[in-house]
Amino acid sequence: MEHKIRVLISEEDVNKKINEVAARISKDYEGKEVHLICILKGGVFFTCELAKRLTIPVSLDFMSVSSYGAGTQSSGVVKIIKDLDEPLEGKHVLIVEDIIDSGRTLAYLIEILAKRGPKDIRLCTLLDKPERRVKKQVKVDYTCFTIPDEFVVGYGLDYDQKYRNLPYIGVVEHNS
Ligand code: IMP
Ligand code: MG
Repeated sequence: MEHKIRVLISEEDVNKKINEVAARISKDYEGKEVHLICILKGGVFFTCELAKRLTIPVSLDFMSVSSYGAGTQSSGVVKIIKDLDEPLEGKHVLIVEDIIDSGRTLAYLIEILAKRGPKDIRLCTLLDKPERRVKKQVKVDYTCFTIPDEFVVGYGLDYDQKYRNLPYIGVVEHNS
């Protein structure tokens, strides 16, 4: 389908906000070590930018789950494609996501990761679309931007696997 990308949040604004959120996290976790769990693939750009700015000790692990097909609608089915390499026992876990939409992915993840004995689990997301939430119990601890119900790309987010590399957040606009 023909479409174009409209800038929603500029690279400069994203950078500024990540600085702020990283400072908050560093303060909240002072004296502790944080274990970041990057949710692939969308969370990878945000995780790297966030991790570089944290002043507390950081360890990193990656998990890949799928909740979407090739389209723009959540299927409600969450599948683990790649599990974590490290155990979570006794760790201060911070899940890092690109976007929280229906909340289905995170509701499921929190449920399974909580059983692995972490000291605590918090959530950090680059974007939040609260209007679309189905799983109301999902509580987000750190949100960079709350956005309206529009399909966005860039900074890790894709449309059919494209545009993840854009350094800003853009909205996909279909030509009619
Ligand atoms: P949820 O389970 O509905 O919260 O969906 C979360 C996942 O859906 C995200 O991690 C993204 O991979 C994908 N997603 C949701 N909204 C968008 C969007 O606007 N653009 C790109 N991917 C999205
Ligand atoms: Mg994702």
